[in-house]
Amino acid sequence: MDALTITRPDDWHLHLRDGAAMADVLPYTARQFARAIVMPNLKPPVTTTAAAQAYRERIVAALPAGLRFAPLMTLYLTDNTPAEEIRRAKASGIVHGVKLYPAGATTHSDSGVTSLARCSAALAEMEKVDLPLLIHGEVTHRHVDVFDRERFFIDEQLIPLRRDFPALRVVFEHITTREAADYVVAAAGRIGATITAHHLLYNRTRLFADAEGRTGMRPHYYCLPVLKRETHRQALLAAATGGNPRFFLGTDSAPHPKGEKESACGCAGCFTAASALEMYAMAFEEAGALDRFEGFASHHGPDFYGLPRNAAQVTLRREQWHLPAEIKFGSASLVPLAAGEPLPWKLVA
Ligand code: NCD
Ligand code: ZN
Repeated sequence: MDALTITRPDDWHLHLRDGAAMADVLPYTARQFARAIVMPNLKPPVTTTAAAQAYRERIVAALPAGLRFAPLMTLYLTDNTPAEEIRRAKASGIVHGVKLYPAGATTHSDSGVTSLARCSAALAEMEKVDLPLLIHGEVTHRHVDVFDRERFFIDEQLIPLRRDFPALRVVFEHITTREAADYVVAAAGRIGATITAHHLLYNRTRLFADAEGRTGMRPHYYCLPVLKRETHRQALLAAATGGNPRFFLGTDSAPHPKGEKESACGCAGCFTAASALEMYAMAFEEAGALDRFEGFASHHGPDFYGLPRNAAQVTLRREQWHLPAEIKFGSASLVPLAAGEPLPWKLVA
């Protein structure tokens, strides 16, 4: 197969940032995707419908002419989110989910939730008005190994949460483990999961070696939840390519200035917006499942969110290309993930 035409996909998990940096990365996403669920972890976080509305307007204003793209906004859940904010969010029609960051779990999560018990009013209201909860599923206890934090989250937090709010629609975001994939397959009720391209393509060895096996720290491959061992990658690949409508595309493209990644304390987040569909296509091809790519990329997400599927189409062609080594990012630059690696598929229209 040398060309692949599919319904225009959406990105169900994206970090766009703000200001000039946002304006620099937005066109990459808008070229690839019709819509994206935009994460609210700005500084300060987007905790109100009014702030989400204003952020949405900044994104729309930054869109280059000729690109059609709809940002789907989210709120950042805190210990103090009142039920009435959830009602406002739902009524606005522009907020499509509420994001749970356990406090301290990842980049810009300092205002996150310290205990789910503190959020019961908001969660009950989300269940009632049917506004999805989008979960960064990692425990934050320092004694838990960073490679085990997602697995522990399922038993400690996710299962009790879903027992307490059985009708709540939940997206288990950017899953990285076999345990998470198995949980999503087996769980009763309304649960979906996003999977990134990088967790489908790479295992944790890539943090410490390049594609040819040359050793050395690779800060651009560091994200949270961190890449896991190969058995987990295989389980994620099976989940994404297996046709189950609970699994859908979410890039978790998370741009950072080059200097903050290439640092003694490099921050978590991989920028994939410029090559997302191409990277996913590589993974689906590896699994011999290009025929299932459209479901994962373009159908399962809108179906889960209760939104119409896109009418337009895009085409990927078999044509090797390389990403630029750096991309302008506000007053700095960023290094895209997979820069330097040959990409065998190219988005052409
Ligand atoms: C994200 C970011 O940089 O905002 N980083 C990441 O590694 N994925 C935050 C997140 O989604 O965890
Ligand atoms: Zn994210």
